[in-house]
Amino acid sequence: MALRNIVTEGDPILRKRSREIDEITPRIVKLLDDMAETMYYDNRGIGIAAVQVGVLRRAFIVDIGDEHGRINFINPEITYREGEQTCSEGCLSVPGKSAEVLRPEKIHIKALDINGNPFEMDAEGLLADCICHEYDHLDGILFVDKAIPGTIEAVNAEK
Ligand code: NI
Repeated sequence: MALRNIVTEGDPILRKRSREIDEITPRIVKLLDDMAETMYYDNRGIGIAAVQVGVLRRAFIVDIGDEHGRINFINPEITYREGEQTCSEGCLSVPGKSAEVLRPEKIHIKALDINGNPFEMDAEGLLADCICHEYDHLDGILFVDKAIPGTIEAVNAEK
């Protein structure tokens, strides 16, 4: 595995739509492993999308520190959204900022895992928030785009 550079706000690649992954090659597996290493490094994040390391592919990883551990999502599709929650968010690609964002309280998502096997899961609370945040990255959307007006704040970049 290897650390990859994080693309930050202002780079136009973050605004592009990521493309579906046709085949899970060793290169894609390495991409996901590198993304995980980059996310875990210095405990910086709980989620990361491929575009954040400059690769426009529909894949992301989340690990909110719960019993699921690291979850890999390839070609994901959120098929159900219910309710609403106010979430305090940050992003590795938007260092030094946090904001509050309205997200669904519960979701259902389908995706492929790192072996190419389809899976589906329900998520709620922080996990639903994190998945929705990463899912938005696949379509070029950043959390600051959805921030509740007046809630964007400067934060310690280490947070
Ligand atoms: Ni992000």
